[in-house]
Amino acid sequence: MSVSLSRYLVEEQRAKGKIPPELRLLLEVVARACKGISHSVNKGALGGVLGSAGSENVQGEVQKKLDIIANEVLIEANEWGGHLAAMASEEMDSIHLVPNRYPQGEYLLLFDPLDGSSNIDVNVSIGTIFSVLRKPEGQDGVSEADFLQAGQQQVAAGYCVYGPQTTLVLTVGDGVAMFTLDREQGSFVLTQEKVQIPADTKEFAINMSNMRHWDEPVKRYIDECLQGTQGPRGKDFNMRWIASMVADVHRILTRGGVFMYPWDQREPQKPGKLRLMYEANPMSWLIEQAGGAATNGRQRILDIQPSQLHERVSVILGSKNEVDRITQYHQGASH
Ligand code: AHG
Ligand code: MN
Ligand code: MN
Repeated sequence: MSVSLSRYLVEEQRAKGKIPPELRLLLEVVARACKGISHSVNKGALGGVLGSAGSENVQGEVQKKLDIIANEVLIEANEWGGHLAAMASEEMDSIHLVPNRYPQGEYLLLFDPLDGSSNIDVNVSIGTIFSVLRKPEGQDGVSEADFLQAGQQQVAAGYCVYGPQTTLVLTVGDGVAMFTLDREQGSFVLTQEKVQIPADTKEFAINMSNMRHWDEPVKRYIDECLQGTQGPRGKDFNMRWIASMVADVHRILTRGGVFMYPWDQREPQKPGKLRLMYEANPMSWLIEQAGGAATNGRQRILDIQPSQLHERVSVILGSKNEVDRITQYHQGASH
């Protein structure tokens, strides 16, 4: 018998009390929005959704049409249900308040509406990443400061990967569950529970073209992997780099591995490329919930106190023993 996302959420609440009705509504709405985005992605050139939108986001990145479409789908789906106080997105300069004509809820939703933008036009897996926080208690209204909570405060996090299958991956702090979109039924169906990442791996993911810009600890780790059976690791490593964090993380949740987007000297004043609130925090929580680890080289990502909404961070995540090793290599290093 197949278990739909709705049933999973209801039963999880009954058994463990982790998903109050407003949060359930929120997760169902996000899932519905992802279904809509999945349809647009699938249409591709037929839907006129490929190519650039000719605009830039707050981070100076050129926006693709699908970045904007996905952002709008998520906002429209989530505005009116009464479950949210506000939203924040990689593609919006500042927070988006729920309009006055709708009731205000207690939750804050953050998202990277379309992750892996460079892969849209070449028909490679892309996705949506989301994170849910609770609005701090005891005040009216909502401000950007309310979003600046460490990742360990998240109450739900997940992503939807639009690949050969559309798969929604979710945690509410009780392990990681995966749901595959059944297009005939029109619903997400539970296909894996209690996902666990092996502690050891022989597979790493990093953009090797940046090697000359890396700091010593990262150079050392990758160099040791590349030496294979002859080197200190005594085993051969394989490499994968999809350039969609969702797809790389999905592989790691499925069969292990380590993913890195470290600080590098191209833009030394920036701590990293990836965004703490929209990418690193939700992915780090999923990885930890599956038995893996996630750090910035010095600190657990979920412990980082954000100081800006669009803050960037260096990311090392995946199989626990590898992440611990790379983090050790960083001790005493400048980045
Ligand atoms: P986004 O498309 O949301 O801007 O994110 C892209 C990110 C991440 O998904 C991926 O791992 C990384 O950027 C790829 O960067 P490079 O092109 O530098 O390899
Ligand atoms: Mn992204
Ligand atoms: Mn994006």
